[in-house]
Amino acid sequence: PLIGSAVRRANGESPGRLLASRARLPRPYETPLPIPRTLAPVGRGATDVYEITQQKAQLDILPGLRTEAWTYGGTFPGPTLVSRSGRRTQVRHRNTLPQPTVVHLHGGHTPADSDGYPLDVVLPADGSITGERALAAMTEGMPGHAGGHHGGAPGVSGMVRGERLHTYPMRQRAATLWYHDHRMSWTGHGVWRGLAGFHLVRDDEEEALPLPKGERELPLMITDRAFEEDGSFRYPLADPRLLTPGVDHAYMDGVLGDVVLVNGAPWPVHRTPRARHRLRLLNASNARPYRLRLEPQPSGGDAFVQIGGDGGLLARPVRHDELHIGTGERFDVVVDFARWKPGTLVRMVNTLAEGGAHEVMAFEIAGGTVRDDSAVPGTLSRVERLDPAKAVVTREFRFRQGGDGWTINDHGYLPGRALARPRLGQTEIWRFTTSLHHPVHVHLDHFQVLSRNNGAPGPYDAGWKDTVDLPPTESVEVAVRFTDYGGTYMLHCHNLEHEDMAMMADFVVE
Ligand code: C2O
Ligand code: CU
Repeated sequence: PLIGSAVRRANGESPGRLLASRARLPRPYETPLPIPRTLAPVGRGATDVYEITQQKAQLDILPGLRTEAWTYGGTFPGPTLVSRSGRRTQVRHRNTLPQPTVVHLHGGHTPADSDGYPLDVVLPADGSITGERALAAMTEGMPGHAGGHHGGAPGVSGMVRGERLHTYPMRQRAATLWYHDHRMSWTGHGVWRGLAGFHLVRDDEEEALPLPKGERELPLMITDRAFEEDGSFRYPLADPRLLTPGVDHAYMDGVLGDVVLVNGAPWPVHRTPRARHRLRLLNASNARPYRLRLEPQPSGGDAFVQIGGDGGLLARPVRHDELHIGTGERFDVVVDFARWKPGTLVRMVNTLAEGGAHEVMAFEIAGGTVRDDSAVPGTLSRVERLDPAKAVVTREFRFRQGGDGWTINDHGYLPGRALARPRLGQTEIWRFTTSLHHPVHVHLDHFQVLSRNNGAPGPYDAGWKDTVDLPPTESVEVAVRFTDYGGTYMLHCHNLEHEDMAMMADFVVE
């Protein structure tokens, strides 16, 4: 409860900070849950090759209204990509949007030139925006920015026009990854308008387990949004400089909407047979954390059996009554819907918020009996422990509000200035400290939480993670080891408005 109320305070649930919709909204639990389509590769040889066109689309999100979105392939969420561990995937992204874009595969173990460095933009194919203009829009007005080049940083391939081919070797275990826009200063804007999708990695170890599969495996992308009267997305910050703390405190906590979308649908309902389901929960919201609970609670509690996190399977399942999920995090859970009677409407609610953002989605328990051969084994995976005793260095990263922006170790983001130079293959301890609430994300490799506030890790810290939620005044120590690829990568706050206001840093793997 202490953490909950602190997070609530730090996330501006107080009146006046929530961005309210002006459009007529549907009632919760009337819209059926959509499942994003799975993208078929255009080529399958030694490599799976996919093509995605980033394009505007008119979406049916609210009844009777059209929402213009920026999309991957015409839908929000974008199509789900499914890769095989160890098998190379390439994705050709073509940009037909009116703005430059950058794609990052969040959780991907990716070579630097395909990782989506925030200045590696793809300029619109139609030539409407020059490189100079794109760069000016990204650096203008930001603290410490002279504009100009980010030259000198290794692994940085820079701007291209029209399209970019991303190569993902997929030398990583099965996990729920996601891809989203990552343009410097404009990530919040691009993601809010629709640039996000799932990318699942599968492997033999996971497939050998008797987990729920097929229609009983649901990827659930949770986002909050606000809408204008005409149905368009309401986002207040056309200019990220408006986010400067001290200038506009209204959005100091990032942008929070009053409508919760799951897979792009407002407060959807899913008709659910009485069987175990695997829910791959992703919080793709710009700034809103959720504490998810199923109502009514099943008798005996522990509605959620967590089997995985950001970086794939846990060693053993962890049971939860509630799940705290910060922005960018994934929780892979099994829920046994046979624990509720037919006809029950099981609501998934967010106990951190009131109003529209309290409701998330619902499962309507179907009648009849169904076969369910699935199970959650007591041992899920052999998870290697990174040994903190072998760590060669401890580094501290302080997430703070600086004089004119959000800072890490007192610096706002400056491309090419590395805050750390870890060496390939060496274990390090990274200590994150914070004054306010920040979800911390590290690119390239997953980490393991060693301690929270110098004590034991928290209930949501198990397994390999790439994003860790830090409530106000807390600290977290993680063990991390970068492998395979050198070059320039990022760590940053995954509150996207904080990220856009410079709470981001380079590190260079040597
Ligand atoms: Cu999901 Cu660097 O971000
Ligand atoms: Cu932050």
